[in-house]
Amino acid sequence: MSEGRCTPSRRAVLAGALGSASLLAGGRWPALAADGAREFALDIGPAEVQIAPQPAPATRIWSYNGALPGPELRVRQGERLRVIVTNTLDEPTTVHWHGIRLPNAMDGVPHLTQAPIAPGGRFVYEFDAVDAGTFWYHPHMRSAEQTARGLYGPLIIEERDPPRVDRDITWVLDDWRLARSAQITEDFGHFHDITHAGRIGNTVTINGAIPETFKVRRGERIRLRLINAANARNFALDLGAHAPVIVALDGQPVEPHTPRGGMVVLGPAMRVDLILDMMEPAGSRTRVVDRFYQGRDYRLVDFVYDEEPLRDAPPDWTLALPANPLTEPDVANATRHEISFTGGAMGGMRGAQVRGEWRDMRSMVRAGLAWAINGVAAHGHVMEPMVTMQRGTTHILDMVNQSAFFHPIHLHGHHFRVLSRNGEPVRHKPWQDTVLMAPDDRVEVAFVADNPGDWMFHCHIPEHMEAGMMGVVRVT
Ligand code: C2O
Ligand code: CU
Repeated sequence: MSEGRCTPSRRAVLAGALGSASLLAGGRWPALAADGAREFALDIGPAEVQIAPQPAPATRIWSYNGALPGPELRVRQGERLRVIVTNTLDEPTTVHWHGIRLPNAMDGVPHLTQAPIAPGGRFVYEFDAVDAGTFWYHPHMRSAEQTARGLYGPLIIEERDPPRVDRDITWVLDDWRLARSAQITEDFGHFHDITHAGRIGNTVTINGAIPETFKVRRGERIRLRLINAANARNFALDLGAHAPVIVALDGQPVEPHTPRGGMVVLGPAMRVDLILDMMEPAGSRTRVVDRFYQGRDYRLVDFVYDEEPLRDAPPDWTLALPANPLTEPDVANATRHEISFTGGAMGGMRGAQVRGEWRDMRSMVRAGLAWAINGVAAHGHVMEPMVTMQRGTTHILDMVNQSAFFHPIHLHGHHFRVLSRNGEPVRHKPWQDTVLMAPDDRVEVAFVADNPGDWMFHCHIPEHMEAGMMGVVRVT
């Protein structure tokens, strides 16, 4: 049951297997435990991995099972997972299963759903894989530092009857702030990051290494599962001549479609499942570029067609994924909640309520706070709900970003339909668990509060969340 540590030759392995995190992890398809659950072990502790190519030194990180990303946990829809977590860090942590609809006690939020896992401590998470899709796990404690140091991994729940593809590939994207020594810059939760766009880095990795090439075959169909594990970086991936077909967002199936402008956008914590038909000529090379930060195009990786062609025309296999068992919101009878996000630099916020008392911006900043939801900046452990919902009722969150920065807004324990953006209906009204809001954006989402418990509602940029931008939604 215990997972092997990765060896220093990992870079060499990765060069051949980029994209096949599962090959490295040794975590997939473990034997069934006596009671029928799929049982995994995650040991959390320091490790060294080769992020930058040699001769750069290995980077000291924190990791799950010594791997970066953590092992790909892969089960089939309807199965039960049991994950035995052991913390060998010098500080407490928890594991949150992002996007998974699970019992509240398994949600991994310290002081809200469980006690922190102390150094040397253990916690067993156990839940059913209700929805098929692309999910991930990460700590929910001191996240600005713990995730930036490398604590994250993919959680893939396969459909009972998965659509046919030639290869099913996971790319976990991250954005690191590395010094020339290839070590992580230890300025976590820096004042500028808190009050601006969060911890934006200088080095993008795919599955824990700076990628160079990704080998493909003409004619093959790839399911590419993208996970944005970066603290703060948004991606807008331009796949060149390859027209990406989006088949799922945040793990939930969506009507297959090519995104506007051909660009695949992922805010922090978001996932996109793509179907890619690799139809460029054999021998060619095409580039994947991140164009989110206009004028600073970032070359991510090259697709290299250097192997035998597989076929000359794309296969005619179906693209659509089977729906997950979500309850459709009753929008006509919904309760509406107006939600504002304020704060940060250049936002003109005068101040906010902190523990029930009015604080001006200057005194907030002294307390490490810079953001508010509905005029309240969360400080320390949030326990009191900002809103209480009756189980089974539909709610619309009418959210306005009154700040000068992007915010990926995330709700635990549920998925919501994104209804509108700036008054325009959103195409396909996708189910998501995280929605990216640009400055001044107004977004409406709807969901049925069908999962009882206290659930976090927060900006997924940990520098913003830990500086006040979080709250609790109670479902009773
Ligand atoms: Cu990805 Cu509150 O979590
Ligand atoms: Cu934010």
